[in-house]
Amino acid sequence: MAVLEGRAVLLNEVDTDAVVENVLVEDPGPNEVRVRIVASGVCHTDLTVKNLKGMGMAFPIVLGHEGAGIVESVGEGVSHLAPGDPVVLAYRAPCEQCPACRRGDPRHCYVALRPKQRIRRRRDGALCSQVLRCGTFSEYTVVHSRAAIKMPAEMPLEKACLIACGVVTGVGAVFNTTPVFAGARVAVIGCGGVGLSVIQGARLAHASQIIAVDVNDAKLKQAKEFGATHVVNARTADAVAEVRALTEDGYDGGVEFAFEATGLPMCIEQAVRMLSYGGAATTIGLPAETDSVQLNLGNMATGVYWNKASLRVCHAGDTLPSHDFPLLAQLYLQKQLNLDDMVTREIGLGDVEAAFHEMETGGVIRSVIRF
Ligand SMILES: NC(=O)c1ccc[n+]([C@@H]2O[C@H](COP(=O)([O-])OP(=O)(O)OC[C@H]3O[C@@H](n4cnc5c(N)ncnc54)[C@H](O)[C@@H]3O)[C@@H](O)[C@H]2O)c1
Ligand SMILES: [Zn+2]
Ligand SMILES: [Zn+2]
Repeated sequence: MAVLEGRAVLLNEVDTDAVVENVLVEDPGPNEVRVRIVASGVCHTDLTVKNLKGMGMAFPIVLGHEGAGIVESVGEGVSHLAPGDPVVLAYRAPCEQCPACRRGDPRHCYVALRPKQRIRRRRDGALCSQVLRCGTFSEYTVVHSRAAIKMPAEMPLEKACLIACGVVTGVGAVFNTTPVFAGARVAVIGCGGVGLSVIQGARLAHASQIIAVDVNDAKLKQAKEFGATHVVNARTADAVAEVRALTEDGYDGGVEFAFEATGLPMCIEQAVRMLSYGGAATTIGLPAETDSVQLNLGNMATGVYWNKASLRVCHAGDTLPSHDFPLLAQLYLQKQLNLDDMVTREIGLGDVEAAFHEMETGGVIRSVIRF
């Protein structure tokens, strides 16, 4: 084994664009693996890391957390993976020691397994942070060995990478965070990579109505292709009133489940107000530190108290990666989960800033970096 040199997309300091630089990637340590990345999706969270000044991570930062690749080498004590294995990287592999893990509930693990920092900026040797313990906008990265989840040989890695974040988050929100029952009415606010995955999850869960809400007609068209039964453009209509009208049942309508996948506090408030009696809203979008929401308690029709509404928070679909990632790959291979149409653009390492721009202007579902 030896230190490997490769290219990576770094945020070097606050309020600068992401740039491609050469990095040195050290050998994996005990219980770590070094992975040659084959493909990585660009998730909105990478853009948020840039926009929120690194989100508490020390600079320089290797961006990217939706990656798939091939195990290049394994550290001491790793017996379940070998060089050449195809893997998807998990940023929430359970720690096995926190209170949730100790009580046998690893989906709600408090902290995820992380590797030692092993990526250095070539020009000055500065040690890099890795977004969500992954750092997949890099030709090589090092992760904890239990965060590298083996894929079936027939699974194309340029599709499998989406499982790592957008897909497991959206589908997992429906199956794990807030289980949707067959026949339920579901609303999804925000139809990007995450929201479309919520829609796919709701379809797999046999929801009776799946109402997609977005401000972009192109996204709403895609939402229909992924399984939405109705669409609402929140730019031209009142999303809450529209969802209630579409679900009118003699009891003022509303959905049993509303999922927010925009990162906008206003949309969390909408999600809560569009619930039927006893319904559950789930927030997925990443908030800024000072973001807050106002929830009315006492309004007879939509107040949280009288409507008996609840609000849940989804972190990466409350995933147990060792179980969920192979299952999602299987659903793809059985043509029950559409990943092909989620990859709307394949790009190179140097195109990340352009992909961020596309994301803000609404042109793509997922840009995927091919190495
Ligand atoms: N909780 C988690 O584990 C987790 C995981 C992945 C992503 N995220 C977060 O989820 C959010 C969505 O991620 P993404 O990659 O799908 O982003 P994206 O940019 O691909 O999609 C966001 C969508 O929201 C739509 N939107 C914007 N304003 C809206 C409004 N007022 N009403 C309705 N729709 C609106 C946009 O048109 C777009 O389609 C981001 O905040 C991201 O950081 C959270
Ligand atoms: Zn993500
Ligand atoms: Zn834990």
